Amino acid sequence: MLNFINGLPKAELHLHIEGTLNPELMFKIAKRNNIKIKYNSIDGLKKAYDFGNLQDFLNLYYQGAEVLIQELDFYEMTWEYLEKAHIQNVLHCEIFFDPQTHTTRGVAFATVINGIYKAMMDAENKFGISSKLILCFLRDMDEESAIKTLHEALPHKDKIIAVGLDSAEVGNPPSKFKNVFNLAHQEGFLTVAHAGEEGPADYVWEALEHLRVSRIDHGNNSMDDEALIDELAKSQMPLTVCPLSNLKLKVVDDLKNHPLRKMIEKNLLVTINSDDPAYFGGYINENYLAIAEALDLSKEEIGQLAKNSFKACFFEDFLKEKMIAKVDEYLLNYNQNLD
Ligand code: ADE
Ligand code: ZN
Repeated sequence: MLNFINGLPKAELHLHIEGTLNPELMFKIAKRNNIKIKYNSIDGLKKAYDFGNLQDFLNLYYQGAEVLIQELDFYEMTWEYLEKAHIQNVLHCEIFFDPQTHTTRGVAFATVINGIYKAMMDAENKFGISSKLILCFLRDMDEESAIKTLHEALPHKDKIIAVGLDSAEVGNPPSKFKNVFNLAHQEGFLTVAHAGEEGPADYVWEALEHLRVSRIDHGNNSMDDEALIDELAKSQMPLTVCPLSNLKLKVVDDLKNHPLRKMIEKNLLVTINSDDPAYFGGYINENYLAIAEALDLSKEEIGQLAKNSFKACFFEDFLKEKMIAKVDEYLLNYNQNLD
């Protein structure tokens, strides 16, 4: 199964670039920038990767991001991720970044986006891996700050495909960001939002109705609401599911109880992703493998998840079809080689 998953062409649609900052790179960048990390060693830091919930994780994730100061730091982090993604046969990825995490520390918006974007362009040239950027607003900050961030993004519009919503979910419903998402739509951005990770199914409804999203990030708690399940199935609204994240943040107690099986049975357009791979113990292929083993998924079902990732991405239709054909070709060849 590992071989099959490794070779499978796929897209990654739920990946926070700050969540790819692994301990080794964090220490290297901290040294370069003369920043003191709270932990004495890489192993000491790794031991702290034990989370009771989303907020526990976010505290460490924002602390880790404080080492990022220069364009080179953002470049290196993004380059390392894209190298790993390429090795795992990711052909396309749509990358979240959290500008407010950096601009509130005095790092310029341009420093952040230019470092990330240059690495994306270099990786496309060197590996042929394509990528797009999604700007996420931090939902535990106010809407005014999100609007300011949107304005800072406008000179870089050509580099950004969509805006999203992340950070602490409970108590920060999508409706809080109705105005900034309306502005983003007016400026021609697509929209996505984290919803139903720790928050209720109602937040998923709000993301659909108030934010007019093209995808729901996570969406686990949608499964509590039959009318919502019907709506997601009817509209084929993609869900970007992150199994190891859900396990590490205790959204599920065991991958065997993960709602992905029910989502597939209900004909939802589900995809597999890694969220914050440096913190959750696995990149995209480890996520595919862990959920495939826990739910006893067949090769056809895993192949369908990879096809879904291209269906749900922000490519034009003809490109989506081209990528889906690549998955079909892989599945056919794989089966023939087994005969
Ligand atoms: N920011 C980074 N990872 C996140 C997650 N899983 N949920 C919400 N915000 C995040
Ligand atoms: Zn996420």
